[in-house]
Amino acid sequence: MRKFFCWFSLVVAMMMASPACAQTAQGTFETGNGTFLLNGKPFVVKAAEIHYPRIPKPYWDHRIKMCKALGMNTVCIYIFWNIHEQREGEFDFTGNNDVAEFCRLAQKNGMYVIVRPGPYVCAEWEMGGLPWWLLKKKDIKLRERDPYFMERVKIFEQKVGEQLAGLTIQNGGPIIMVQVENEYGSYGEDKPYVSEIRDCLRGIYGKDLALFQCDWSSNFEKNGLDDLTWTMNFGTGANINDQFRRLGELRPNAPKMCSEFWSGWFDKWGARHETRPAKDMVEGMDEMLSKGISFSLYMTHGGTSFGHWAGANSPGFAPDVTSYDYDAPINEYGHATEKYYELREMMQKYSDKKLPAVPKAPMPIITIPKFELTEFATLMTATGTMKEGQAETGALKTFEEMNMGWGLMIYSTRLPEISSESVLTGEFHDFAQVFIDGKYIGKIDRVKNEKSLTIPAVKKGADLTIIVEGMGRINFGRAIKDFKGIVGNVTLSTETDEAEMVLTPKNWTNVAIPDYYEIAKGSLDMVKSFNEKLPDMKGSVPGIAVTRNYQESAQLTDFFKPGYHRGYFNLTKVGDTFLNFETWGKGQVYVNGHALGRIWSIGPQQTLYVPGCWLKKGKNEIIVLDVVGPKEAVVWGQAVPELNKLQLEKSNKHNNIGDKPDLNSATPAATGAFNGGNGWQTVKFNAPAKGRYLAIECLSTQKENDRVAIAEIYLQGTDGKRISREPWTTKYANSEEENGNHTGDKVYDLQESTYWQTEKGATLPHLLVIDLGSEQTISALEYLPRAEQGAPGSVKNYKIYLY
Ligand code: GLA
Ligand code: CA
Repeated sequence: MRKFFCWFSLVVAMMMASPACAQTAQGTFETGNGTFLLNGKPFVVKAAEIHYPRIPKPYWDHRIKMCKALGMNTVCIYIFWNIHEQREGEFDFTGNNDVAEFCRLAQKNGMYVIVRPGPYVCAEWEMGGLPWWLLKKKDIKLRERDPYFMERVKIFEQKVGEQLAGLTIQNGGPIIMVQVENEYGSYGEDKPYVSEIRDCLRGIYGKDLALFQCDWSSNFEKNGLDDLTWTMNFGTGANINDQFRRLGELRPNAPKMCSEFWSGWFDKWGARHETRPAKDMVEGMDEMLSKGISFSLYMTHGGTSFGHWAGANSPGFAPDVTSYDYDAPINEYGHATEKYYELREMMQKYSDKKLPAVPKAPMPIITIPKFELTEFATLMTATGTMKEGQAETGALKTFEEMNMGWGLMIYSTRLPEISSESVLTGEFHDFAQVFIDGKYIGKIDRVKNEKSLTIPAVKKGADLTIIVEGMGRINFGRAIKDFKGIVGNVTLSTETDEAEMVLTPKNWTNVAIPDYYEIAKGSLDMVKSFNEKLPDMKGSVPGIAVTRNYQESAQLTDFFKPGYHRGYFNLTKVGDTFLNFETWGKGQVYVNGHALGRIWSIGPQQTLYVPGCWLKKGKNEIIVLDVVGPKEAVVWGQAVPELNKLQLEKSNKHNNIGDKPDLNSATPAATGAFNGGNGWQTVKFNAPAKGRYLAIECLSTQKENDRVAIAEIYLQGTDGKRISREPWTTKYANSEEENGNHTGDKVYDLQESTYWQTEKGATLPHLLVIDLGSEQTISALEYLPRAEQGAPGSVKNYKIYLY
């Protein structure tokens, strides 16, 4: 008995001494008067946003410790529905998906957890976290009270609850708050829907757990529910008092929290790498802390959108790159940046204890000498490795109709004789390559808003083949219902002096090739064994091991260029590295069976992060699916990433002088001067104005010799409602600061924190012309200058034209 007692008291003493166990007792977290209350005491949330699927599991602990050493007391996580339920009804919370383990790890490190379980999350993640298979019900209404959507949401939330409900602070766990939906204001106005999500979460986590909503200060009132805590999202440089002004008016006693303070921004294919100054970030956080304002730093560590998980921004179609570095204080591969140290120094001021030492990275950085990927299998080989049901004839099918989430499709049909050039038109999601009788004709790239291609005259029976590669589904705005493949019909139109002829081919072969490592490997293995059996033929007919209608003409036409490449590299020591793909076209990469992510020669990302924990001593395998074909099939591992190298056919600027309108004799729809300062302003026209193009002429700035910058523009129709900006494109801008991605399209990208800005030194007046897609009748213009306090470039005198 005495012996037992000694042992028992030793355990108790150990538990009390261990800070890791300090939180295991039941506790409370509430929204109090002017402050949050943790176990009844005032508490400022200093949260670090990090996403467990964007970090390999072996590195979770290190990344959490990095956040802790920054002076954070909480980690904030999203739950991406689609990574946990990749097939309807099949849930996975194991391995890298083990979110409960992630939360326990946070707790072991003395950190609290905020959970944001969606169902929609945005986050530059495929479809904003929603599973693609929802789109199998074509008429589904996403993020609305559609019965099927709500049924699936509730099942998913229940499953997450099974993992996490036991880990709330009330149950002795680390979870202090759960978020209801995500920035619903930029999607619409639907309190009944948001309320239903709230009730669902309350049912799962209990009435005592704090629930909150996040939105922008400009639109949180649309969906703000009376019984939830309201938090604001805004970025580095924002005017903090302004951001909380309205909340202060409505709820003077509410605690303030910036639930997403954007440390940097995300990168899109074809545009420069985004950065935000450390100084602005640190000053903003210092200001918040000095005022007792809670925050979550989005992202503190962004990590990587591995495999096919990167989403796409909208309006327009702007797919996100694989790296989610975000210019965050902890970079993509877990190292502390200068921003980190500047922030840490500031954060130290608000901590009574010395911050823990910055932990050492779990793996060294290694380099790998250049090597060649010598094995090759054409795309068509993949069809030989697949199960049934992946080829269908008849009408054109989308990926979703073929029951495929990610990958590419090969569409082919026979054409009648067309004796002159014709224009091929359709909706291709997202990157289409067109072949006639195996010869490459051209591409149709959704990123560039392309929808058509001129094709040459063809003989009767000519083979038209279109390879369509899907990229990430849109994760922002109304366009999240983003079907992949060919959506709708494809037409071929010819115009002669006498007549216009439109041909709509109806009889297609649809072949779906899903993005799975097993298919890539299977294809390469098949070619390899074929080559071994028939050594004489070796290499002469890549992709011969298939049954397909091209086989008769098995010349190596362009059509055989897209395919899988494989190579190997040997390591004596493992570590993190960055594989360089700048000689490749476009596609996907797998290393030792791990899907690393997408590549695209246009950049800005040219290297992929390879976590050392996925490498091994000895032989390692790499497979590249290149849908375009490489210039040179070589790869090497370098010690630093390349995230900012564009290889564009032409620049992103809109300064082609031929597009500049002559407004000399035009009558403006409105003339006047904007007020200084932040926030939305509306210009009502004296009479409605008509035109397809909107031209904004900026004659002067609020401060002299400043640059012009505009964050957002809306136009109102004659009914006073905002017209859709979906079809908008930038026609002309005399000056755009391209390096910071401040191009003209930023005035209608639905993001208040991005803006069009003229170059330093460019002289007034400045002109921005937007193509509205079709003629519109407009009664007013809404204008948002840059959100930052005293930001440069707010426009003063203006003339607005529609023509
Ligand atoms: C919003 C969303 C986030 C993320 C950021 C931009 O705030 O809530 O999920 O998309 O924008 O990085
Ligand atoms: Ca914007």
